[in-house]
Amino acid sequence: MGNIARPLLDWYDAHARALPWRSPPGHPRADPYRVWLSEIMLQQTTVAAVRPRFEMFVERWPSVAALAAADEAELMAAWAGLGYYARARNLIACARVVAQTGAFPETEAGLRGLPGVGAYTAAAIAAIAFGERAAVVDANVARVVARLFAIAAPLPGAMETIRAATDTITPADRPGDFAQAMMDLGSSVCTPRRPACLACPLNTACMAYAAGMAEAYPIKPAK
Ligand code: ADE
Repeated sequence: MGNIARPLLDWYDAHARALPWRSPPGHPRADPYRVWLSEIMLQQTTVAAVRPRFEMFVERWPSVAALAAADEAELMAAWAGLGYYARARNLIACARVVAQTGAFPETEAGLRGLPGVGAYTAAAIAAIAFGERAAVVDANVARVVARLFAIAAPLPGAMETIRAATDTITPADRPGDFAQAMMDLGSSVCTPRRPACLACPLNTACMAYAAGMAEAYPIKPAK
């Protein structure tokens, strides 16, 4: 699907947000510890809120081994404000498993079994940290894909269709950058309201745009 991945990656190379857990330009892989930590923090918290907290965490606990040995009360206090404390407890549990075995599993399937790592997070870490061609679908990506393919089924039932469609456009080359490009596109261009279709690198491939209906997708469930 060169008509999607290529222009999207070109757009990402020019417009990617510089975020502290991303690999610097020219480095194909990011540090798995930083990718994992950021993805757990980003599960229910915005990029803006996560960013300073992420910096603080990696300064205090620079490796998964350091985090595995963290004082639990100190870690819970450091987490304060991010909410959903089950995530913080899973964070320590996961760090201990990984420290015990020596390294993060390098596949989506292997990552799936870790505490706090669900389908989305496993795919995100596999793609971003290990270059696996995994379909990474968060809410931003789901919206972009629902519009690209003008997926007619309403959410949340459309999720499996959206996941399968995402899989068909995910490239073997730079799957992690592709995933993060889709996230950035969804947060800055392909927004829920008034998407900036004229500035979108995928507008010529987008079925919803072709129909003049970008904003109508994803279809909302009937109330
Ligand atoms: N949300 C979840 N993961 C993200 C990432 N890697 N970059 C930007 N936003 C995200």
